[in-house]
Amino acid sequence: MTETKSARFSGLKKALTYANNLTSLLGIGLVTVTAVLIIVFIAVDLLGEVRNPYLPVFGFIVLPAVFALGLVLIPFGMWRRRRALRRTGVGPETIPIYPRLDFNDPHVRTTAAVVLGLTVVNAVIFGTASFLAVEHMDSPRFCGVTCHTVMQPEYTAYQDSPHGRVACVECHIGPGASWFVRSKVDGLRQVWATAWNTYPRPITTPIHTLRPARETCEQCHWPAKHHGDKLRSFARYAADEANTPTYTIMLMKTGGGSQDLGGHGGIHWWHINQDNRIRYVADEKRQHMLWVELTTPAGETFIYTPGGGGEVPPDAEKRARLMDCIDCHSRPSHYFPPPDRALDALFDAVPEYATLPYFKRQAMVAITATYPTHVAGVAGVERALKEYYQANHADLVAQRGELVNRAAAAAAQVYARSVFPEMKTNWETHANHIGHEESPGCFRCHSGDFSTADGARTIPVDCDSCHVFLVEASRTKPNLPALR
Ligand code: HEC
Ligand code: HEC
Ligand code: HEC
Ligand code: HEC
Ligand code: HEC
Repeated sequence: MTETKSARFSGLKKALTYANNLTSLLGIGLVTVTAVLIIVFIAVDLLGEVRNPYLPVFGFIVLPAVFALGLVLIPFGMWRRRRALRRTGVGPETIPIYPRLDFNDPHVRTTAAVVLGLTVVNAVIFGTASFLAVEHMDSPRFCGVTCHTVMQPEYTAYQDSPHGRVACVECHIGPGASWFVRSKVDGLRQVWATAWNTYPRPITTPIHTLRPARETCEQCHWPAKHHGDKLRSFARYAADEANTPTYTIMLMKTGGGSQDLGGHGGIHWWHINQDNRIRYVADEKRQHMLWVELTTPAGETFIYTPGGGGEVPPDAEKRARLMDCIDCHSRPSHYFPPPDRALDALFDAVPEYATLPYFKRQAMVAITATYPTHVAGVAGVERALKEYYQANHADLVAQRGELVNRAAAAAAQVYARSVFPEMKTNWETHANHIGHEESPGCFRCHSGDFSTADGARTIPVDCDSCHVFLVEASRTKPNLPALR
């Protein structure tokens, strides 16, 4: 009994003696303080969303790193002190090379239990923090806000898009561990580029390492869904005194389906690879097509080149890209509307603004002017419009000043949505490939110029293959129900 007691005493004394060094004490201090802070962070995070985007970086990445450092320092300091004591021979007793682990000794058992218990606690703290760190790094707020200037254009457009509730990682990473690891490795390179200010402005598109849409978009969108013909109506406003509108209404042959399902055809069916398969070779920016290949459901293959006589690029097989959703829907989440379009949409939403003389013309002038920063641009557009009406339509400002102010602020928002001077990003740098008015889009292939060598097939350019006009450029507002 007395023997055990003295053994326990000497064991504890030994441990304390070893731990009594600056390194271990520093380790103990770090572990204790960070453990408390991490637990507080986890509690706050579970209770509600942490609003500041930098706090979780601190709470779940910096703190656990310091915590881990502390955990390493404690045994390291003990080991060094034990070694020093052994050398000088002033230990409480002769110190063997390795600690004796005899589990018949109750003191060893107690110590082992304490160490094991503390390790489990540490693992839980560390594991929870790491899990929350990963979860946090996958959240749109982290992606969009942490690198504020770099991601500002994409994040602004994203929040205003049909996918504003879809997490960035759903499209940019997708499920599975390998793409997750790839993206985190790539992320380190991006953090480096951001830290050293060497990232490209604008952020380049297309993203050549983007995961194929089959594995991202098609998690939610069923490619064979038959959308059928969709009614689209467009109002376009002129840059004249009355902001005169013209109206176009068309049936868009979105189509879809598959041969297996029976009903099939239209735009989607031709390019989504359920039945047909389209591959192409283009320049770096995917703007100029060099070679297009169609494989039909029957297995026939057709090759289209410019004028039918174009050369087949020698490395076509290696460079060919299988066409997918983003070759048309290039801006599903980061659309920067051209000011012309955005102002038309504004008139559609608030017809009152179209009653302001020359509003479209002046707003275009203000929005397309050059400003040093995003913030200066937003303020500049609003000021320019107010000044224009003050100088040229003082009577209007006197009568309807409130409307002029509201319209000027709305035009400033059009700028805010699409122009980011710091990132050299605007509607021209990241064009939308749906259609053919904002960018060549469909006409990159459907120019009428791409034919097979024998000239038997040409990628069609006739308007009706894609949409049928019900009303074309009409000056009077169409009465939709009367179109039946
Ligand atoms: C609905 C899918 C989707 C979501 C959600 C999404 N993106 Fe994208 N993102 C895309 C596509 C598609 C592209 C263009 C790819 C291409 O053309 O190569 C893109 C491009 C980008 C680019 C390159 C620059 C550019 O504008 O082309 C950045 C940066 C980016 N996204 C960041 C984000 C961030 C940050 C989020 C979340 C806040 C996000 N994305 C959410 C689909 C998405
Ligand atoms: C996490 C699920 C999810 C993913 C992933 C996703 N989408 Fe969507 N998408 C939706 C939902 C939901 C809507 C309908 C939104 C609405 O109508 O408000 C939608 C709408 C759309 C629309 C119609 C937009 C409109 O203006 O009506 C297009 C086009 C589209 N998605 C393309 C894509 C493409 C391309 C990708 C891959 C880059 C993609 N989506 C990835 C869920 C998703
Ligand atoms: C050949 C180009 C092209 C490809 C490839 C393509 N789309 Fe589309 N998609 C269109 C066009 C054009 C429209 C109609 C746009 C309009 O009405 O203005 C459309 C419309 C849609 C819509 C809205 C449908 C509706 O009527 O409400 C969704 C959702 C969509 N596409 C998703 C996808 C997904 C997901 C993929 C990939 C599996 C894809 N698209 C591939 C051209 C394409
Ligand atoms: C990479 C090249 C490429 C792009 C980009 C492209 N297409 Fe096509 N498209 C083709 C090819 C190839 C065919 C098949 C031509 C044939 O039948 O010989 C085709 C066929 C079609 C057809 C069927 C025409 C018919 O014969 O009935 C429609 C409709 C169509 N495309 C619409 C679109 C729309 C809309 C867009 C843009 C949103 C678009 N395409 C973009 C390559 C392309
Ligand atoms: C390869 C398919 C394709 C062909 C061929 C085609 N279009 Fe289009 N067109 C589209 C798509 C897709 C849109 C929808 C764009 C959008 O959703 O904003 C569109 C939109 C339009 C619009 C409305 C544009 C706007 O925003 O005001 C007009 C006008 C138009 N097309 C005219 C024509 C005419 C005229 C022809 C024949 C010379 C033609 N298109 C041939 C695919 C095509």
